[in-house]
Amino acid sequence: MSRGNGGQLRGTRHDPPRDTPRDTRHAKRYDERYYQRWYRDPRTRVKSPAELARLVALVLAQTEYHLERPLRSVLDIGCGEGRWYPALKRLRPKVSYRGVDPSAWAVARHGRRRHLQCGSIDALDALDLGPQADLVVLNDVIQYIDDATLVRAAPQLRARCRGVIFANAFVDSDEFIGDRTRHQPRSADWYLKLFACAGWRAIGAQCYLAPDLAARAAGLELFH
Ligand SMILES: C[S@@+](CC[C@H](N)C(=O)[O-])C[C@H]1O[C@@H](n2cnc3c(N)ncnc32)[C@H](O)[C@@H]1O
Repeated sequence: MSRGNGGQLRGTRHDPPRDTPRDTRHAKRYDERYYQRWYRDPRTRVKSPAELARLVALVLAQTEYHLERPLRSVLDIGCGEGRWYPALKRLRPKVSYRGVDPSAWAVARHGRRRHLQCGSIDALDALDLGPQADLVVLNDVIQYIDDATLVRAAPQLRARCRGVIFANAFVDSDEFIGDRTRHQPRSADWYLKLFACAGWRAIGAQCYLAPDLAARAAGLELFH
């Protein structure tokens, strides 16, 4: 994969044709039951608080290493209940955190305390999100979003972030335990190309580096 714009991302495999109304009869419900099942109940959750703390520490270290300063601001897209907020605050009490999620339930429940607002990954331009963030978090989000929406979102993500985007996903070769409803079985290469098309470079641990920072990174700090 070359530096900068790595070519065109093709394919809208899972999308209805343009102008076809979306079928909402079987829409996923991101409500209290959903977050309880997958993120809180010790019998069914996908990550324990300790695992989340380790992941947050890893992403924080990657971001600060490349920024060469402490983390100041985070934008968490598809933030759900904003679980990254307390985990980040424990490590960086002064960090400014904003979350965006279409779940009316999550925003009503946690919005005021955790600074969450309603919105969608492909309509960030419609929101007042303040200055670019040091870190954009997309934890367990992109694997549930259709191709066309992600392609529309990519330039907006680029505009919202000056440091690192953390965007994790299980790919088609992964066997995983968790929420498989509407999971999009894409290849790792598809995701790498999505970010490369927007000018971002993979740096490992499912993190992508902004073009300006990538330009000064050492060769082996970047995926090729
Ligand atoms: C598997 S949950 C992950 C929640 C959160 N990131 C976490 O780690 O706790 C997926 C989240 O993506 C959100 N989501 C679904 N469609 C979205 C969209 N178009 N834009 C932004 N977020 C979306 C859902 O509301 C849900 O909160």
